[in-house]
Amino acid sequence: MQEKIQSYLAEIDRFTTQAADELEQFRLKFLSKKGLIPALFDDFRNVAPEQRRAMGQALNELKNKAQDKFNLLKAKIEEGVTEDKSGTDLSLPVDFLQLGSRHPLSIIRNEIVQIFSRIGFVVAEGPEIEDDWHNFSALNFQADHPAKDMQDTFFIESNPDIVLRTHTSPVQIRAMELRKPPLREIFPGRVFRNEAISARAHCIFHQVEGLYVDHNVSFADLKQTLYYFAHEMFGEGTQVRFRPSYFPFTEPSAEMDITCFVCGGKGCPICKYTGWVEILGCGMVDPNVLDNCGIDSEEYTGFAFGMGIERITILKYRIQDIRLFFENDVRFLKQFSGVM
Ligand code: PHE
Repeated sequence: MQEKIQSYLAEIDRFTTQAADELEQFRLKFLSKKGLIPALFDDFRNVAPEQRRAMGQALNELKNKAQDKFNLLKAKIEEGVTEDKSGTDLSLPVDFLQLGSRHPLSIIRNEIVQIFSRIGFVVAEGPEIEDDWHNFSALNFQADHPAKDMQDTFFIESNPDIVLRTHTSPVQIRAMELRKPPLREIFPGRVFRNEAISARAHCIFHQVEGLYVDHNVSFADLKQTLYYFAHEMFGEGTQVRFRPSYFPFTEPSAEMDITCFVCGGKGCPICKYTGWVEILGCGMVDPNVLDNCGIDSEEYTGFAFGMGIERITILKYRIQDIRLFFENDVRFLKQFSGVM
């Protein structure tokens, strides 16, 4: 009898449930008329007189334990109080989570992507670790081009064919190798250059590249597309100007400036009193690049452009120091919590 009492006690101690039917099983097993505890009370008659006192006490304790457990669990189930297996009360009020906010670079990237999506550009991405072919050679860089210099590019020492991409232009090559015209795509992503880190330059930054290849794509299409972009991004009154430039993978090439949206072109510290701010590089895809990707340059033409997301974000939000983007100081980041 002593052993039975001990083993029932242990079982009752361990028992817990949130389910009414399991609790009913518990009641039937231990407490009901045909249950184990009343059966022990029946056996009590056979207990030797000198043990009666102690055994009677133990039996009563057992009965009370079982009844208390039953009452407690019944009350909890009725209240809807829920406890998990570890005994943690899941009905307690929560600690409020601090809601984060979007990073300013993500805000501007999303805005750029949305503007181009509206005129049929789709998003594609490429790897941040590139090979020489996609980052340079297929883009018409000569073997001795200064951009390949150790000063600018992060090479892998044991394999100089592998680089951290220095721009998003290699995604143009990947798009043209994989898909055939008509192509109308934009490529947002992170790029790396071996620059000394300062308020104005960083070794990590972000670009959005654009590519449009089809029959009869002209420089007029390029200008109209970027004109549309400048208006959507910086406002209706924005003017653009194209300055001749050079990139190995576009011919002709240009840099696009917009009228300074801070002073409206009158001159201020943001535009260094010129009235204009440089916003992106662009040009007609060089026929060599099309041919490198197996696209017939006699049949197709295209344009491409690339812009720095940091630069546009710095201009739009008047941020003084590019390093703020990567330090993740919440005092900086939470200033953008109102912007989605
Ligand atoms: N890849 C160039 C850069 O990083 C930008 C660019 C892209 C220019 C596409 C022309 C066409 O500076």
